Order: sequence, then structure tokens, then C-alpha cells
Amino acid sequence: MSFDWTAIEQEAQKEINQASSGEAIEALRIKYLGRQGLLAEITGSISSLSAQERPEFGKKANYLKNKLTQLLEERVSQLKENESQGLEAFDVTLPGEPIPQAGTLHPITQTIREIAAIFSKLGFVTVEGPEVENEYNNFSGLNIPLDHPSRDAFDTFYIKSPGVHQVTRSPERFLLRSHTSPVQIRVMKEHKPPLAVIVPGKVYRPDAVDASHSFVFHQVEGFLVDQEVSFADLKGTLTAFAQRLFGENIQMRFRPHFFPFTEPSAEVDISCILCSREPRAESREPKRCSVCGGKGWLEILGCGMIHPNVFANVGYPKDKYSGFAFGMGIERIAMLKYGINDIRLFFENDLRFLRQF
Ligand code: DAH
Repeated sequence: MSFDWTAIEQEAQKEINQASSGEAIEALRIKYLGRQGLLAEITGSISSLSAQERPEFGKKANYLKNKLTQLLEERVSQLKENESQGLEAFDVTLPGEPIPQAGTLHPITQTIREIAAIFSKLGFVTVEGPEVENEYNNFSGLNIPLDHPSRDAFDTFYIKSPGVHQVTRSPERFLLRSHTSPVQIRVMKEHKPPLAVIVPGKVYRPDAVDASHSFVFHQVEGFLVDQEVSFADLKGTLTAFAQRLFGENIQMRFRPHFFPFTEPSAEVDISCILCSREPRAESREPKRCSVCGGKGWLEILGCGMIHPNVFANVGYPKDKYSGFAFGMGIERIAMLKYGINDIRLFFENDLRFLRQF
């Protein structure tokens, strides 16, 4: 039996060089070197040769086997090399894949920061206080007597286990603060005027949840204490604030009101940001406006001149200082600013809502 050894080698070499995958190479290994492959066939035919022919034939078969083994191995490492080069040889000038947005600040956080930035430029510093507060700071210190009906306006979550008053050792009740005003007491007890402070934070009230109520929400408190602070300072400060937050053209209205911790007290309205932004005659039709209901005014905060009893409660000398204070609900402001009509959206953490900010 005779074989064209050179032709076999050349054919195999060509096939191996054309193989471009691991599977293709394995198929060729089986074709040539497998148990029923070409080499097995060749060596199987050795028995039909004469004794003289066998050594020469064996040598050639051996050579072919080694050669094909080598070619297959070389091709495998060549393919591996190509593959790794392919991974590294990417085009650095191509625009990258967009990285999915990791997150954004919550609209309430954004609103608090915006308010704090405006007051910071007016000279106010930001201070925070605890959400679990004692009854004194939340009520009595602010001139809200424990048995006074004005407390009903600040319905409150109480903490079950009473604490002990640090000085008198008498039992002391704790609660979830129902407003940020108790931080006035904390700051004024610690620091002498002049003071210009804002206090953002969470407050709690046992309200049934609906589109405009939540048992937890946010307020920003503000107060300024010095000598000879007047109501005009309060009006000027709040007007500057509202115009920066809602726009230069906003009008302000101060309505007399009652708060136990301020005297006199006022509620502040701004002109409606929807109807006054679109001053076309037809959209000003009464009752048509979805934001103010046609009234033309939106209530945004409560304020007043700090009550002398509050100064007495924090140990300030009588008649030396005067100051103003104000408090506003952040959710309400954010709802007005962004045109949101349901307070629950702020607390449900639905990404479809949050991603818009
Ligand atoms: N604490 C009041 C509330 O929660 C808001 C408020 C009104 C705060 C008048 C003040 C103020 O500092 O002077 O309804």
C-alpha cells in the first residue's frame, strides 16, 4: 500500500490553518488522529507490508503523526492569541455605553437644599434637632401649656416608656416632635443672640393619610434673634426668600393669625404661581385654577414675632431681645413648585416618580 505522504500533509495543513474555532480544530483532530482517523487507517495497513517496507513506512507514519499533532497545537494557541488581542484592541474613541443612572436626590431633599441655600445667602445657618423630643421643648417651652386647648392643633405621637428628667429626676414624657419649633428652644438655651438659624427636618402627627396628609412630613423652621428686630425685618426676609424660591414677580400677603409662640402672628400667602404665571384673561377666570382654586393666593407658612414667654423660658433677660420665627411645610412647597397633587408620592418611593427629579 502506498500513500502520497506529502499530499496528505499539505491537505491537513491547509485544513488546520482554515479552522477558526475550537470545535473546528477538534473535528480535524478526530479526522486525522482519532481512533478511526486517517493515521489509524495508515498504521492499520502496516500488516499488509513486507518486512523490508515496514521500517520506512513506520517512520513516515510517525513523522506525519507528530507533524499533525504539532500543527493542531500551534493553531490552537494562535486562535487563543487572536482572541485575547481582539479583546484588548477596542476603539477608545468610540462613545461609551451609557451607565444607568445610579440615583438622584429625593425631591424633598432637593427642596430643603434649595431653601437652605437661599437662607444661607441671607446669613442663616442650618441646625438640626432630634425627632424624638421631650414634652417641654415641643410644648411648654414654646408657650403651649400642657393643659391648653392650643395643644390640640399639634396632635402628637407619644413614646410609651417615660424617661427621667435629667435635672429634676421627675418622670418625663417623650414624643415624636410635631413640629420643628422645639429646636428654637434647644438653640436659644445653648446660644446667646445674635442668632439666625434654619432647621429642616421630619415631623410627625397622627393624621389619617390622604392626598394632602401624611403622618410624617418635613418642615423648615427659621428664627432670627437680636436687639431691635422688627416685624418689617420679618416681612423683608420672607419676601426676599419667596421671590427667590418662586420668582421675582410673586406677591406676598400677611394675614393675622394665632400661634402660642409668636405675638403678633401671621400666616403668609403668595400669589398663585399658576394663574399669575399665565396672566391671560381667560385662565384667570375664578375657580378655574387647579392650584389656587380661583382664590389667587396660596398659603405657604406661619410666622410671627417670638413671644416674650419663649425668651423667658430659655433664660434670656427680659426686654433685651426681639426676634421673629417662621415655619413651613416642605411637601407643600415642593408640591407647588413641581405641580404634584398627592403628598403620598413623596413616601412611596416609586422609581417612576423619583426619576423625574
Ligand atoms: N410650628 C408651626 C406649625 O407646625 C409653624 C410655625 C408657625 C412655626 C409660626 C413658627 C412660627 O416658628 O413662628 O404649624
